[in-house]
Amino acid sequence: MEILHVSAECYPVAKVGGLGDVVGALPKYQQSAGAIAKVVMPAYNTAFREKHSYEIVHQGGLWLGHDWYHFNVWKESTNELGFDLYQVDIPGLLDTPGVYGYPNDTERFLAFQVAVLDWLNEWQHQPDVIHCHDHHTGMIPFLLRFGYKYSRLKHIATVITIHNAQYQGQFGWDKLYLIPSFDLWKSGMLDWNGAINPLAAAIKCAWKVNTVSPNYMEELFRSANGLEGLLNAERGKATGILNGIDDKVWDPATDEMIPAKYGLKDVTKGKKANKEQLCKTFELDPSLPLFVFIGRLVGDKGADLLPEIIGRSLYEHPGELNFLILGSGDAHTEWRLQQARQYAGEHFNVFIGYNEALSHQMYAGADFLLMPSRVEPCGLNQLYALRYGTVPLVRVTGGLKDTVTDFGDPGGFGIRFLHASTGDVCHAIGRALELYRSKVKFSNIRKTIMQLDHSWDKAAQSYIDLYTSLK
Ligand code: ADP
Ligand code: GLC
Repeated sequence: MEILHVSAECYPVAKVGGLGDVVGALPKYQQSAGAIAKVVMPAYNTAFREKHSYEIVHQGGLWLGHDWYHFNVWKESTNELGFDLYQVDIPGLLDTPGVYGYPNDTERFLAFQVAVLDWLNEWQHQPDVIHCHDHHTGMIPFLLRFGYKYSRLKHIATVITIHNAQYQGQFGWDKLYLIPSFDLWKSGMLDWNGAINPLAAAIKCAWKVNTVSPNYMEELFRSANGLEGLLNAERGKATGILNGIDDKVWDPATDEMIPAKYGLKDVTKGKKANKEQLCKTFELDPSLPLFVFIGRLVGDKGADLLPEIIGRSLYEHPGELNFLILGSGDAHTEWRLQQARQYAGEHFNVFIGYNEALSHQMYAGADFLLMPSRVEPCGLNQLYALRYGTVPLVRVTGGLKDTVTDFGDPGGFGIRFLHASTGDVCHAIGRALELYRSKVKFSNIRKTIMQLDHSWDKAAQSYIDLYTSLK
């Protein structure tokens, strides 16, 4: 069986968040499970591009409305990712330093999808399944079914994975002319609430729909930023498959990005050494429990609550704990966090920006990871934290509910709370401090969580079973 993943992100080529991690890992594990898995993504102007060599496997051109663009499809030559990587290069559209956030994102990702389909149309060899990720690739299932140009590809099964239903990629009907010609009687398949909605189109047209955790699927049936009715209507083809992690990249015993490697046997010593280094860099006291937050500083992640959480916790537990935050996003939250340094400087530090190595050092050096998410379709941070023996404090939502149990319950290991509110998070922090003081219990929990198996092996097989059911 051959699968072609189509995605806007893929680690280590380009990553903004968890989507990159998933698309960089899942194909590797699918290959190990006996399938052939490939990835096609845009060729951004990244450091990865500079450092690697490619062969051109296709050259073409496409109309985007009235504009003509040449494009190339490259194949990465070294195959060091563990799967074939193809990149669509469209000069003037996709060769940006970043992934998203450009005023012409609609045009950029439409062109990307058209280029992928044009290339497949001429490729002698076809995949059995096209696996689309998020709304940036949501037009593909539609175009495969109704695009006049692509009838040759109609038989290829499509899957859409919803990594986050908050983002749907809507654009106005005035941009209809950008879409390659299709059976206009089927225009309704593109529409949701009066706009062209790529995620809705994918839910309607893909052969299967899945979310990245079972609980998130259940939540979406109740509320999905306007798509709940559609998802209920398509319930028969919808399912939830829990993400895994790349346990080769995320392994404290071999991680080259952390100062002190450690395993189950020397977890206490190893984490202490990593914490000391981290605290030295960020001028924090390593003898205190360290709480970290890593992620996009946006409302979905509850990042706006952080300044208040820090202020209140330091007031309630003076001199008892430290906070370290890594992230970027909402400018106001970034500013408030930087301001918080003034009143909490001794016990709090923040790194505004994206830093892959620092994230590894924080999972390794922290005692606790905070995730006050309002929306968390799966969440990978808590899974990395578990693997590094860091206890996650999570709001019971989405994939966090599926992956973290509470240490107060039999066999539980994390700390759960109900609301994305300062009160709930601060209460959870109080419980974390109590746990930290129970040295034996804390040490046992660390060992338990490091042994949990969240590798992609199981989920890679679940996806293969899903594809097989489409035959
Ligand atoms: P999301 O995809 O919604 O952002 P996930 O929990 O699925 O959330 O994945 C986030 C991924 O991005 C993790 O690998 C996390 O370590 C990483 N990450 C987020 N923000 C940063 C940052 N500022 N620097 C480094 N890594 C980050
Ligand atoms: C999205 C979600 C996150 C999930 C990730 C990978 O970015 O917000 O919860 O873990 O996709 O599937």
